[in-house]
Amino acid sequence: MSAILPPAERLWWKHPLDRVEGTWIGIAFVWCMIMFFMMIYWHAYGSQNLSTETYKTTPEKFAAKAQVMVDAYTVRTETEQQIPVVAPPAGSDIYMLARLWSFWPILELEKDQTYRLHLTAMDYNHGFSLQPANINIQMVPGYEHVITITPNQSGMYSVVCNEYCGIGHHQMVGRIYVK
Ligand code: CUA
Repeated sequence: MSAILPPAERLWWKHPLDRVEGTWIGIAFVWCMIMFFMMIYWHAYGSQNLSTETYKTTPEKFAAKAQVMVDAYTVRTETEQQIPVVAPPAGSDIYMLARLWSFWPILELEKDQTYRLHLTAMDYNHGFSLQPANINIQMVPGYEHVITITPNQSGMYSVVCNEYCGIGHHQMVGRIYVK
């Protein structure tokens, strides 16, 4: 048989399956199945997942809840914009909102305590990139993202917006303290 001439039997799917071909199809299929079930397994047991929960909200509802926390637990203000630094009790629900072009408020947390961190964007898409811990999620308007966090190292963390959000995007940096 030659590659120049058309094949005698043009309906390739009617050719008998070669043993080598069948073996490779079998190996590929088994590997597909392993990869498929690994996705499910890794979702539950992989350490790379952020277990965020997401709920619908509105800027007004979210801001009201954040304001309650800020009113109750502000310990001082920082930066030129007088952003409140809030030290909420360990184990509580804590709130941070993003808007053009800042994060509000600044949080002061205790090491090795667990908090439920609620995030939303008030206007456009923003990013929540926690440095140097390298935790990354999108903050989407209309949605409340909830992450359970247990800071295990004290220090100052920066919250960097990593979704392009306009002329002040590069200045959009927030702060979280862990004591
Ligand atoms: Cu907010 Cu970029």
